[in-house]
Amino acid sequence: MALKGVLRPGYIQIRVTDLDSALMHYVDRIGLHEVSREADGRVYLRAWDEFDRHSIVLRQADKPGMDYAGFKVGSDSDLDTFARRIEDHGIKVEEVAAGEQPGLGRRLSFIVPSGHRIELFSEMALSDDGPMTRNPELWREEPHGMRVTRYDHCNLHGPNIDQVAEFFTEVLDFSLTEAAETPDGIAAAFLSCSNKAHDIAFIRRAEPAKFHHVAFSLDSWHEVGQAADIIARYDIPLDIGPTRHGITRGQTIYFFDPSGNRNEVFAGGFIYYPDNPKRVWSMDKIGKAIFYYQRELNERFMSVVT
Ligand SMILES: [Fe+2]
Repeated sequence: MALKGVLRPGYIQIRVTDLDSALMHYVDRIGLHEVSREADGRVYLRAWDEFDRHSIVLRQADKPGMDYAGFKVGSDSDLDTFARRIEDHGIKVEEVAAGEQPGLGRRLSFIVPSGHRIELFSEMALSDDGPMTRNPELWREEPHGMRVTRYDHCNLHGPNIDQVAEFFTEVLDFSLTEAAETPDGIAAAFLSCSNKAHDIAFIRRAEPAKFHHVAFSLDSWHEVGQAADIIARYDIPLDIGPTRHGITRGQTIYFFDPSGNRNEVFAGGFIYYPDNPKRVWSMDKIGKAIFYYQRELNERFMSVVT
């Protein structure tokens, strides 16, 4: 296994203001499966092509937004190694006991310089009806809704993006694959722990701990079009798209859940290897960097966060 340390995004806990409408959105429209509803009210979901028990956690709250995002590491001993490295970097680490989420082992929880809570875990129960592994069919049960294959990444807004990028690269061993740079530092950091163009992104904003979007992957540009059809058919609030990003090259559409959290479904994006040079965008090209076809940002995309 060449991929070591932090392997991939694992889960994200999202706040919604109305659970019933959120479930209609994430299950019926986006195409996730409901795994369980627990006594504390949280609902656990997963996409059809994910092996782990769950990836999306919905928590009813007064305000929308993100509670935390968790990354899976390769082994339990990696958690001890990372706990030391994070503390040595000057960031306090809390350990959350196994079982706080069903099927999830112990995890590390800490706040990065942008104000977001990030977690690391190594063990999660496998799904009872995850992808087949013996003479595997394409899928066990035909995908529905937008047919998203997995939780792919989140995009977070806050201050101190230079320090966030330094933390992810020097402490968690991510690569800064692509960035928008200004004379006074990084405005947008795209960070990968894998072969993907990014596994998490941070954008500079004065307010800490803001949530820009959660993204799900699709198999093709055609499926981005099918997602657009569903968004139009059910009058789901649209932000922008279908379009393509200059950054990552992903083909994309953005829309909102009923609580006002932004969602993205996307396909494509370049493959990244750790020896690839960093791609850099200057702020005079930021429109093309974000929306390659329109070549300009829409006001809502930059202003609305939860
Ligand atoms: Fe994204």
